[in-house]
Amino acid sequence: MSSSKLSSPVTFLLIFALVFQTCFGANPLYHFCSSSQNFKANSPYESNLKTLINSLIYRTPSTGFGVGSVGQYQNEKAYGLALCRGDVSSSECKTCVSDATKEILSRCPYNKGGIIWYDNCMLKYLDTDFFGKIDNTNKFSLLNVRNVSDPAMFNYMTKELLSLLAYRASLSPKMYASGELKIGGESKDIYGLTQCTRDLSSSDCNKCLDDAISQLPNCCDGKEGGRVVAGSCNIRYEIYPFVKA
Ligand SMILES: *[C@@H]1O[C@H](CO)[C@@H](O)[C@H](O)[C@H]1NC(C)=O
Repeated sequence: MSSSKLSSPVTFLLIFALVFQTCFGANPLYHFCSSSQNFKANSPYESNLKTLINSLIYRTPSTGFGVGSVGQYQNEKAYGLALCRGDVSSSECKTCVSDATKEILSRCPYNKGGIIWYDNCMLKYLDTDFFGKIDNTNKFSLLNVRNVSDPAMFNYMTKELLSLLAYRASLSPKMYASGELKIGGESKDIYGLTQCTRDLSSSDCNKCLDDAISQLPNCCDGKEGGRVVAGSCNIRYEIYPFVKA
């Protein structure tokens, strides 16, 4: 008797946790709504945006990147892209992009543009053609507040690793690279990731990533982990492996 009394709240909690996770998925890292223009309910822009978003959900998972535009006339045409992190499976990618579209549409209702980032993907749309241009507007950074013991050395090694990964990403078809720096001794190894949206040219990808790396002293000086996340590229480093094998 007593065991069944005990088990029911536990079961309830477990089910609650599962339902909660299933309903709400992962939390976004950050989002911006464009401030320029709004659209009206049932307008051509709304219908083009919905078509665009459905096509991104459909097209992105197979390669991890989807880009497109829908509409014919200025003010009605919607441009968008979705990018999944280079190491996620196509099913994780699909889940992430579809969560992202629901979330950004509810956070930016009637905004003509929006951008949202998750661990596994990002989604961006706008009423103007932004393809092939480095997005210098939308960016943020995240850090692990813990300090490393030898910041000067650690910052230097982190920059070396990420610069190499930036170069590799810019030359790879997926515009994605990950790798680690084995430091040895008592120092920690460093794990890094670099990625660009694939509408950029190789040289703009490298430029975008180098700009992001140059932000590290402002956000993440001597910290055990950091990310600079932008509309066209992102970088991340940690002292633990965070990329799926
Ligand atoms: C990290 O170092 C800074 C500057 O020395 C200090 O202010 C901060 O409290 C440290 N943070 C942690 C989590 O120890």
